[in-house]
Amino acid sequence: MLEQGVAPESVLEELGGFTGKDVDWQSGRVLTGLYDPGHEAHELAVKAYTRFLAHNALYVNMYPSLSRLEQEVVASVLMLLRGDEQTVGNITSGGTESILMAVKTARDWARVNRPEVRDPQIVVPVTAHPAFIKAAHYCGLRVVQTPVDTQGFRADMPAFVDALGPETVLAVGSAPNFSHGTIDPIEAMSEAARERGILFHVDGCVGGIYLSLLRRMGEPVRDFDFSLPGVTSISADLHKYGYVPKNASVVMYRNRDLRQHAWFVSTETTGYAVINPTVQSTRTGGPVAAAWAMFRYMGEAGYAGLVRRSQQATAEMLAAIKDMDDIEVLADPEMCMFTLASDSLNVFEIDDEMRARGWHMIPQFACAGGPANLHVSVSDANVARTHEFLAELEAVVTQLRENGSGVDQAGIEQMVAEVQGQPPEAVMEAMVPVLGLEGAELPERMATLNTGMNLLPAATRNAILALYFNIMY
Ligand SMILES: Cc1ncc(COP(=O)(O)O)c(C=O)c1O
Repeated sequence: MLEQGVAPESVLEELGGFTGKDVDWQSGRVLTGLYDPGHEAHELAVKAYTRFLAHNALYVNMYPSLSRLEQEVVASVLMLLRGDEQTVGNITSGGTESILMAVKTARDWARVNRPEVRDPQIVVPVTAHPAFIKAAHYCGLRVVQTPVDTQGFRADMPAFVDALGPETVLAVGSAPNFSHGTIDPIEAMSEAARERGILFHVDGCVGGIYLSLLRRMGEPVRDFDFSLPGVTSISADLHKYGYVPKNASVVMYRNRDLRQHAWFVSTETTGYAVINPTVQSTRTGGPVAAAWAMFRYMGEAGYAGLVRRSQQATAEMLAAIKDMDDIEVLADPEMCMFTLASDSLNVFEIDDEMRARGWHMIPQFACAGGPANLHVSVSDANVARTHEFLAELEAVVTQLRENGSGVDQAGIEQMVAEVQGQPPEAVMEAMVPVLGLEGAELPERMATLNTGMNLLPAATRNAILALYFNIMY
């Protein structure tokens, strides 16, 4: 690839050639991980982003504009989340980095303020995002996962309170969880943490901005933000329902005393002074400028319009799916995200059929007493497609009901039973041919693969996925 340089037009043409198999993000049929604010807003964001692309946010002295833009964006998000003159925040690259910072800050706060802690751990309901498991892994902390109720997928309070102990350095609730779109009992959880002197993080990565707007629009939203005294940190992603281009999120802290433990400073090398409140050091100014531009362009009324339309489309979807046979929505979603499950059909086959028709959802494995399901996040770009989605979903469900399953469920179950207890390498070897994993790419139809994965214990699944992707890339 590096042999010889090529003219810009040719490079762009070549790049375009790679995207043939990519999802069409402008189709309105991508129902997860995509937040398209519409043509005009997108164009503005692109211009703002590229204008600050070469700015390096590491050098605050060289680019004071970036500090200013960041502070104004953070102040707006803090206002939405009912911060006060004490609360502070920083922009990060995404939910995972915001969560990593909240976990690291809690660990380091405890090192100073609770030196008796020997085996620091975080307590998270099983619906908390995997970013917490990752953060704990990176920070060398233990994770205690607590159960949720299988009707609402909200933290089970007695179990959560039971898990809070002398070694807990951070407890967590989601507003809402990504998987099912329901909000944990944040008030009670944060209060239980506060009574025990434990820090409490609210994961508002997906819902922080959206739910705050909804509340300000006069809709009933249970308190989940800094209005609750026990809440000590919050993450809220700009690149989700803030409709800002990736990568942008905000991590917020109750006060500067807590954020003091976020900083990493190093001046003991031959190099320049590193002074970082987040993980990244060198980072482009693009996302910060795009976030600022989007906030200015939308204003609260613009955002409220996006929220209103998504809420309405989601309500229509939920009502229509309720009337369909062989498919149901789990729990009682509290914003514009929900999951589809079925007692009689294989949801992974529904996913394949919908994907063949251009609809993209996210399969989720059975967990916490709930069945395997398909996650849907509704954003503004999907609103105009609501009826089409519902019609195609019904058609797919009918087709699968009439044609029967193409997945050899019994065969897969038998294979999984046979590999039980074997090391991951052996499990993978046995499963590769059965699940269609032989090629250099993942199979187009994923139902057999997902059915097999769904039956494995999570630890085995984690191990073989790591083995597999390590070979693939
Ligand atoms: C509730 C929640 N927390 C954390 C994350 C992780 O965010 P990111 O993918 O931006 O790292 C997500 C992503 O969907 C999320 O929904």
